[in-house]
Amino acid sequence: MKYDHETRTFDCEPTLTDSQVLEFCKTGYLLLPGAVPDEINRRTRDYLEGKGPANPSYIPAGMTREDLDRIRTTHEPSGILLEDWFIEHVLLDPQVAGALRSLLGREVGLPVLVSKHSVECPASPQGWHYDADHVFGPEVNFIEVFYFPQDTPVELGPTDLMPGSHLIPAQRDTTNPGVAAAGPAGTFGIHVQNLMHRRGESTATGLRHMLKYNYWRTVAPVRDWIIEPGFDFRTAYYGGHHTARYTAHMFYWLCGMGKDYRIIGGQAWPWRSVNQIGPSYGFGAKQGYLPNWRKNNPDDYAL
Ligand SMILES: [Fe+2]
Repeated sequence: MKYDHETRTFDCEPTLTDSQVLEFCKTGYLLLPGAVPDEINRRTRDYLEGKGPANPSYIPAGMTREDLDRIRTTHEPSGILLEDWFIEHVLLDPQVAGALRSLLGREVGLPVLVSKHSVECPASPQGWHYDADHVFGPEVNFIEVFYFPQDTPVELGPTDLMPGSHLIPAQRDTTNPGVAAAGPAGTFGIHVQNLMHRRGESTATGLRHMLKYNYWRTVAPVRDWIIEPGFDFRTAYYGGHHTARYTAHMFYWLCGMGKDYRIIGGQAWPWRSVNQIGPSYGFGAKQGYLPNWRKNNPDDYAL
């Protein structure tokens, strides 16, 4: 792990493989259960509940110690991002750092803002929603992470995620439970920002904390995660009708090949069926279409 205090960026060995990066493109999220040690989870809860003094490693330009004390009690207690113990054991946790290094490249930028979602349980579920200012597209220029510093079983209302809702705008279906990001204390959820989600219903009694923040890309995308020797772009499974074209576009963008990505539509690559007797046509097409991520064309293809 190499952490640069001046630029607040880190570099480390990537931990995700081709298949895992492609899976992230399909679902839009990755869960890391129980990654953070209990002692650090407790310290985080204490910080959020105002117990003990803050000890920022420095006072950011344009801010004062009083500013940091003031924001500690708000819904954006970003001073926690300046605590050495939080940087080392939460922001740079080996599992979360390895995954983000795989998806965001070298010199990953650390968060500059933290959002606190603390709820007194039991509580009713939130409505399904996309967060403000989301954008649909193949680019992965930042990634949102949430961190649960206490045991968060489904009874304590962890975040529910709607897999694949970053590819095609999803309906707000209250009967669809999605996937609960439940887990023991120290669980991380990593997701693309434009993934539909909600706070799940809670039935237990207690205080549920969750912190949410973004890591940032500082370099152009390149396929420098763990390369699988047998990974074949032509035969990889990118998903079904209406989704494979988006998943493959996102994967190509992450590989640094977004500009070369073209599809010819129909049953051609990147779609395929297990019952076909030969490889899909259309792989490596130099001319064709791009998926219409922003829905301004009725047939869902864009130039
Ligand atoms: Fe939200």
